[in-house]
Amino acid sequence: MKGILLAGGSGTRLYPMTLAASKQLLPVYDKPMIYYPLTTLMLAGIRDIMIISTPADLPQFKRLLGDGSQFGVRFEYREQPTPDGIAQAFLIAGEWLKGSPCALVLGDNLIFADHLSALLQKAGKIEKGATVFAYQVRDPERYGVVSFDETGKALTVEEKPPEPKSNWAITGLYFYDDRVYDFARKVKPSARGELEITDLNRFYLEEGTLQVDRLGRGCAWLDAGLPESLMQAGQFVHTIQARQGMLVGSPGEVAFRMGYITADQLRTHAAKMGKTELGRLLKELADHGDQG
Ligand code: TTP
Repeated sequence: MKGILLAGGSGTRLYPMTLAASKQLLPVYDKPMIYYPLTTLMLAGIRDIMIISTPADLPQFKRLLGDGSQFGVRFEYREQPTPDGIAQAFLIAGEWLKGSPCALVLGDNLIFADHLSALLQKAGKIEKGATVFAYQVRDPERYGVVSFDETGKALTVEEKPPEPKSNWAITGLYFYDDRVYDFARKVKPSARGELEITDLNRFYLEEGTLQVDRLGRGCAWLDAGLPESLMQAGQFVHTIQARQGMLVGSPGEVAFRMGYITADQLRTHAAKMGKTELGRLLKELADHGDQG
């Protein structure tokens, strides 16, 4: 399975912070935002990753992440000339995908859960259909919303409905089978002129192959698209790291734990972090292995 990390958009809800900088490069506590969704894809076992961003911001992502070898993965970079919708990612990636199944993660989405890696690797094994994740929120009208029948089967998916049928929002992490490119080509622009991911999901729903996994209490899903949620995400990461001495959203750590890089490679990566706490924790992991 391949993965797409979508990190374009205009970030208007974070103005003036995003007038001159990409949203996905803003700090979430001690790391650039894009590190968090990147680790999500890596934890799913995905090592071929396309990073899509605006023509203005793409060079900065290349500077930050390079070719992926420091994390034992391969990065491809592509421009999205204008933010014409999330589903457009599959059209941009079409040739590179070569009919492969694909996961997509939004560059401003952070997911934390116990056993996340197992959950993601299971989703990554789908042969036919799509898997998305739903999370209960207080403001579902900001998101794609899924409703369920009494047996728990997904019934409807709607994009930003003014009157949501449930408070289950669809998170910004999606797994699709090898037909995703063909389905994406059928998506028509919505009233707001975007190729909506919800319309792509609806093709799978109507076919009866949309699997919706509900994320429960033990899981945190945050999107950092508003000043308040950006701050909450930073506070969340800080709280866990300070209290447990464990890292959240570190691609170096994930690469090492997944066996993508050696202890020596992790040491080199840690040295680049200088005297930071992140660098210290990574070096400790390289020197002494897993303490947790
Ligand atoms: P949004 O939060 O829907 O849009 P945005 O980032 O442009 O922000 P705002 O609404 O404040 O103007 O996007 C969700 C994620 O998807 C975010 O990481 C940006 C990314 N995205 C793209 O890369 N291209 C797109 O065409 C769209 C719609 C979103």
